Amino acid sequence: MTASAQKKDNLIPSRCFIAVPKVMESEPMQALDELINQVSGFNTLVLIRGESGSGKEVVARRIHASSSRATKPFVPVNCGAIPADLLESELFGHEKGAFTGAVATRKGRFEMAEGGTLFLDEIGDMSLPMQVKLLRVLQERCFERVGSNDTQYCDVRILAATHRNLDDMVIDGSFRQDLFYRLDVFPIDVPALRDHPQDISALMSLFMSKLEAKGMIPPKFSSSAMRALQQYPWPGNVRELENLMERLAITHSTKLVKAQDLPSKYQTLGVVDADLEPNRDDQDALMASLTAYHADDDDVALELPNAGGRPPLPDEGIDLKSYLLEIEQWFISEALRKEDGVITRAAQLLGLQRTTLAEKMKKLGVS
Ligand SMILES: Nc1ncnc2c1ncn2[C@@H]1O[C@H](COP(=O)(O)OP(=O)(O)OP(=O)(O)O)[C@@H](O)[C@H]1O
Ligand SMILES: [Mg+2]
Repeated sequence: MTASAQKKDNLIPSRCFIAVPKVMESEPMQALDELINQVSGFNTLVLIRGESGSGKEVVARRIHASSSRATKPFVPVNCGAIPADLLESELFGHEKGAFTGAVATRKGRFEMAEGGTLFLDEIGDMSLPMQVKLLRVLQERCFERVGSNDTQYCDVRILAATHRNLDDMVIDGSFRQDLFYRLDVFPIDVPALRDHPQDISALMSLFMSKLEAKGMIPPKFSSSAMRALQQYPWPGNVRELENLMERLAITHSTKLVKAQDLPSKYQTLGVVDADLEPNRDDQDALMASLTAYHADDDDVALELPNAGGRPPLPDEGIDLKSYLLEIEQWFISEALRKEDGVITRAAQLLGLQRTTLAEKMKKLGVS
């Protein structure tokens, strides 16, 4: 192999190792985090299961990053995206002239991952002949490059993922039972986003920060939009949420996104609900809600003549800035009280991103 080819091969794994910021605040995700922490210190094979876009690769990268192999390469291979006849050479490498088109000797992903972690994504899409070859590496920790008789031993931790039901595939004969038992040592299920909607707001904040880092100015979200997003079933999971954020950052940059501004399939509140609360998102509504709250208290209600549900402007005028700050402070304290001090949930109640609320709390001295 030429020096430049060697250099190129060596670069691939380190480029693949990217620290992934993650959100794992809800109970199901905390439980997942616990499993990750438990298993990462061992060389155990982990089978990560979950719907498409739910975060299987994020979990794999977390396991690798928390393991003693963290400084070594993390090498992902999408077994479903590589044609069956090329997968063997992709995994084990090939010698020059091993097949038509093999113009140079090339390292496979196993070699690239030496000392580190190999992530076999979409393992359920692997052909049966390839499953036999993989089983041998898992059992004997050795392989041969295509076109070579030299056996190579490897020190690679294997993580696998699939969105398919491997149990069913074993029954219908499309997945080998012996390989399944090898892989199924420590299964981890990544919850679908609809099963942890509590994380939506924190995920949105994360994606907004990513978009800001790319120079975009993302929108703000009203509480009705937040409620609609909480109720949507997210068949495409976290990836779908991330894509929606990017789309809205383009179409609604710097604006306030209300439920009715969301693409139609996300308008889960329905016309009636949205119509019932047409003004809840703007400043007038903020005032109206404050009045409504005070109306519970007879004295205050009496002091406030009804001006279309809004407080009257005193003859001597008001200091609007400090008045609004007071209202902001009051609503933030109320939301925190209602949500037992959980900032993420309070942010959802207020239609704010978590980081925005945290900043406001700091600025306004709300603890
Ligand atoms: N907990 C999380 N915190 C932050 N971002 C996440 C989280 N889970 C998923 N993502 C983001 O969502 C996107 C999809 O995640 P990932 O690629 O890990 O999903 P997947 O389950 O492997 O999807 P597929 O089945 O399509 O391969 C990525 O951009 C990832 O960064
Ligand atoms: Mg994936």
